[in-house]
Amino acid sequence: MSTTLIKGGLVISATDEVVADVLVDGEKVAALLAPGSGLAESADQVIDATGKYVIPGGVDAHTHMEMPFGGTYAADTFETGTAAAAWGGTTTIIDFAIQSVGHSLREGLDAWQEKAQGNCAIDYGFHMIISDVHEQSMKEMDVLVGEGVTSFKMFMAYPGVFYSDDAKILRAMQQGTANGALTMMHAENGIAIDLLVQQALAKGQTDPRYHGDVRHALLEAEATHRAIQLARVAGSPLYIVHVSAAEAVAEIAQARDNGLSVFAETCPQYLFLSTDNLAEPDFEGAKYVCSTPLRPKEHQTALWRALRTDDLSVVSTDHCPFCFKGQKEMGIGDFSKIPNGMPGVENRVDLLHQAVLDGHISRRRWVELASTAPARMFGLHPRKGTIMPGADADIVVYDPAAEQVISAETHHMNVDYSAYEGKRITGKAQTVLSRGEVIVHDGQYSGRPGRGNYLTRSTCDYL
Ligand code: URP
Ligand code: ZN
Ligand code: ZN
Repeated sequence: MSTTLIKGGLVISATDEVVADVLVDGEKVAALLAPGSGLAESADQVIDATGKYVIPGGVDAHTHMEMPFGGTYAADTFETGTAAAAWGGTTTIIDFAIQSVGHSLREGLDAWQEKAQGNCAIDYGFHMIISDVHEQSMKEMDVLVGEGVTSFKMFMAYPGVFYSDDAKILRAMQQGTANGALTMMHAENGIAIDLLVQQALAKGQTDPRYHGDVRHALLEAEATHRAIQLARVAGSPLYIVHVSAAEAVAEIAQARDNGLSVFAETCPQYLFLSTDNLAEPDFEGAKYVCSTPLRPKEHQTALWRALRTDDLSVVSTDHCPFCFKGQKEMGIGDFSKIPNGMPGVENRVDLLHQAVLDGHISRRRWVELASTAPARMFGLHPRKGTIMPGADADIVVYDPAAEQVISAETHHMNVDYSAYEGKRITGKAQTVLSRGEVIVHDGQYSGRPGRGNYLTRSTCDYL
C-alpha cells in the first residue's frame, strides 16, 4: 500500500491544534508524528503543508442531489454534486432517500442507491425521508436501522407531498425510540403556511419576497416547539434541520436547557444571506427561495450565538440547487411555484472559515461544525470527522490565506448562479484527500465518479 506524508501543517481538530506530520497508509490515517520525524524520505508521496491547516474532510449531512421538487429535479447529480463538494473540501455527504406516498421505504432507498452508485466522487450515506407512516413502513424502519440508515426525516410542511400529521410523526418517533434512530424534522407549520400562501396570491403578492413573509418565523418556532413536545411524549431524540428563525433557536435552547436530547443544524444561507436577497428585483429573489426561508438579518445574531453555545451543533448546506433559467423561472407570477432550494455544497467549508476570520467562531469550532459534529451526530465517527490513527484518510490541506471570489463562473456545482456571487473570502482547500487518494490539488481535480463508497452508519454518538 502506498504511503503519504502530509508534512509540517497545523493539524486542527475539534479540541486541539498542533503542528504535526500526518502519515497516511493506503486509505487510512496511520499516525500523527512530531515534525521532522525523518519519514519524509521513506513515504511514497510527500505533501508540504507548511503554513497550512490540516483538517478532517468536511461532512455535509444534508444534501439533495437530483431531488424531485415541484415538477423538476435538483440540478446536481450525484456525479456533479460530489465533485463540487470535493472541490470545496467536503469528503462525505449524507443525502436523503425519499419514500413517496404509496411506496415502501425500501423502494425509496433502492431508487436513491441506483442514482448514487457508481457516480459519487466521495463517500456518501443516506437518511430516509418518511412520507407514508403505516405499520409496514414502521417495521421497515427497524430493518433499515440494522442496515446503517439510522436517521429519518419527517416534514411538518408541504401538505399533500411530504407532510405528516402529528399522529404520524408521533408514531414514527415511537419507532425511532425503540430502534435507536434519530428523527430529523422539517419544522414549519405547513397547514398554516398554505393558508397564508393562498391569501398572498389572492392579493396579487406573487414576487419571491412573499415566500419569506408567508413562511413566518413564528410558524417555524411553533412547529419546532410541537416537534419537541412530540419527541418528549415518544421519548425520542430529535434533530431539527435547517433552522433559520431566532424564535426557533429559543425553543431548541430551552429544550436543551431542560436536558432533552434535542439537536439542530443551521445552514450557511441563513448565516450569510437574508430577506434582502429574497427582495432582489427582476425575479432575482427566486435564487434565494428555500424552506425554511431566509430571515431578516437580525436573526443571524441568534444563529451565530447558538453555534457558539452548541444549541446549534452542525452546519449543513441543504444543497438543493435549481437553475435560475428554466427552473426557478417556473415561479414567475406565483412564488409558490418556485422550486425550493439553494446551491452551496462547494461553499460551506470556506464560508465557515470566513466566519472564523470574521470572529464568529474559533478555528476548532469551524472543524467541529463542518466535520466532527456531523460525523458524530450521524454515526460516522471515528471513521469520518477526525484525523487519528485508524480513521479514513479524508484530509484537507487548507490554505488560510488564499483569497477567492465566489462566482458561478468558477464554481463546479451544476447550477447557473451562485447564491454568494462576488463575495470575497479568504481561505481555500488546496489539497483534498479522500480515503488516502488526492482528488483535488492546486486547482486540479483528479477524482472520478464511482470512487466514493456507500457508508453504513451507526447510531448517533451524542445519545
Ligand atoms: O428548500 C429546501 N430546503 N429544499 C429542500 C427540501 C428540504 O426541505 O430540505
Ligand atoms: Zn426540509
Ligand atoms: Zn433539505
